[in-house]
Amino acid sequence: MENLVMFARAFQNKSVWLSGHTGFKGAWLAEWLLQLGANVHGFALPPNTSPALFDQLGLAGRLGHELNDIRDAAAVARSIHQAQPDFVFHLAAQPLVRESYATPVETYATNVMGTVHVLDALRALRKPCAAVCITTDKCYENVERKHAYCETDPLGGYDPYSSSKAAAEIAIAAYRQSFFKNRPIKIASARAGNVIGGGDWATDRIVPDCIRALQRGEPISVRNPHATRPWQHVLEPLSGYLWLAARLTSDLRPPTSDLCSAFNFGPTHESNRTVAGLVQELLKHWPGRWEDKSDPKAVHEAGLLQLSIEKARAMLGWTPVWKFPTAIEQTVRWYRQPSRELTIAQINQYTADARQLGLPWTA
Ligand SMILES: NC(=O)c1ccc[n+]([C@@H]2O[C@H](COP(=O)([O-])OP(=O)(O)OC[C@H]3O[C@@H](n4cnc5c(N)ncnc54)[C@H](O)[C@@H]3O)[C@@H](O)[C@H]2O)c1
Repeated sequence: MENLVMFARAFQNKSVWLSGHTGFKGAWLAEWLLQLGANVHGFALPPNTSPALFDQLGLAGRLGHELNDIRDAAAVARSIHQAQPDFVFHLAAQPLVRESYATPVETYATNVMGTVHVLDALRALRKPCAAVCITTDKCYENVERKHAYCETDPLGGYDPYSSSKAAAEIAIAAYRQSFFKNRPIKIASARAGNVIGGGDWATDRIVPDCIRALQRGEPISVRNPHATRPWQHVLEPLSGYLWLAARLTSDLRPPTSDLCSAFNFGPTHESNRTVAGLVQELLKHWPGRWEDKSDPKAVHEAGLLQLSIEKARAMLGWTPVWKFPTAIEQTVRWYRQPSRELTIAQINQYTADARQLGLPWTA
C-alpha cells in the first residue's frame, strides 16, 4: 500500500468538520476523532432523542458545537469556510425509512440538498481537504437478489429515504467530476448498513426498542422478526470512514483517482441474522421476553441487502473486526453502564482487536 499515513497520526491537530455530530454515529465518530487528537467542529441540529449519546458523552464542551441547519446553504458555506477543514465527514441526514414516508419533502431537502450544500461549500475552499460523505447500503436499487451488491451496481430506492441517498450519491459523483478534477479536494462516499452499538436512542430501531422495553421490564415487540439484516457494530463503518479519509490525504494521485469514489463498509455473511435472532442474542446478556408483533399493513421495508466489501478489502485493507456475538455483547454492555469511559474503552478494545488481525489502519 503506497503513501501510507498512519491512522493514529492522520487526524492529530487537524481541523475536522463533522456534520451530524449530535446523532448516534456522529457522536461516536466525534469521540473517536477527539481521542485521535483532532480539532472537531460539529454542525447539526440539537439532539432529537432523550437521552442522547451526544449529551451522555458530554461532547458539547469538548468540540466546536454549532447548532445549524444543513438545508441552509449559506450557513453551511459559512461554517465550512470558518473551519477551514483538513477533513470533512458529512453524516447529517434524516436517516429513518419510516419517517421518510411521513416527511418525504423534508427528507429530500435534508439528504439531497444538504449534501449539495456541503459539496458546494467545498467548491469554495482554497486548501487541500479530504471529504467522506455518508450515504447507506439502501442507495442501491434493491432487487432482493441473493448475491452481494458492489459499488458499480445501479442506484435506486423504493422509499423516499433510500432514493434520497441514491440522489445524494449522484450529486457527489457529479460534483467530483465537474468541480474537483484538478483540485486538491478529494471526495469519497461511504455506504454502510444497519449499525448497532451503545447510545442509539432513535425510535423505530430494533436495538433501542429492545433496550427501552427491557428497562421498563416489558416484553420486546418485534415488528419484523423474520427480516434478515446484515448487522454490524457502529465502530466497523466508522473505522472505514476514518481510514478512507486518511488514505485520501496520503494518496498523491489526482482527485479523480480510484479512492475518490464510493466504498461499501459492511459485515461478513456471518452477521446476516434475522431480527428475531438479534433479539435472542441480546436477551442472553439482558434477560427478558419478546413478542411477534408483525403488522401486515406495515409500510414497505426492503428485504435482505448484502454488501460486497471486496473493494474496501482490496484498496484499503479494511475488514470487519467484531463478529456478531461480540457486537451484541459490547452493545448491551454499553446500555447497562452508559459512560464516556466505557465508550472510549470500547474504541480502544476495537482498535486492539483490529491490531490483532493486522489491519493496516492500526499500524
Ligand atoms: N444508523 C444506521 O443504522 C445507519 C445506516 C446506514 C446509514 N446511516 C447514515 O449515517 C448517518 C448518521 O446516522 P445516525 O444513525 O447517526 O442518525 P441520527 O438520527 O442519530 O443522527 C442524524 C444527525 O443528523 C443531524 N441532522 C438531521 N437533520 C439535520 C438538518 N436539517 N440540519 C443539520 N443537521 C441535521 C441530526 O441533528 C443528527 O446529528 C446518516 O447519514 C444516515 O443516513 C445510518
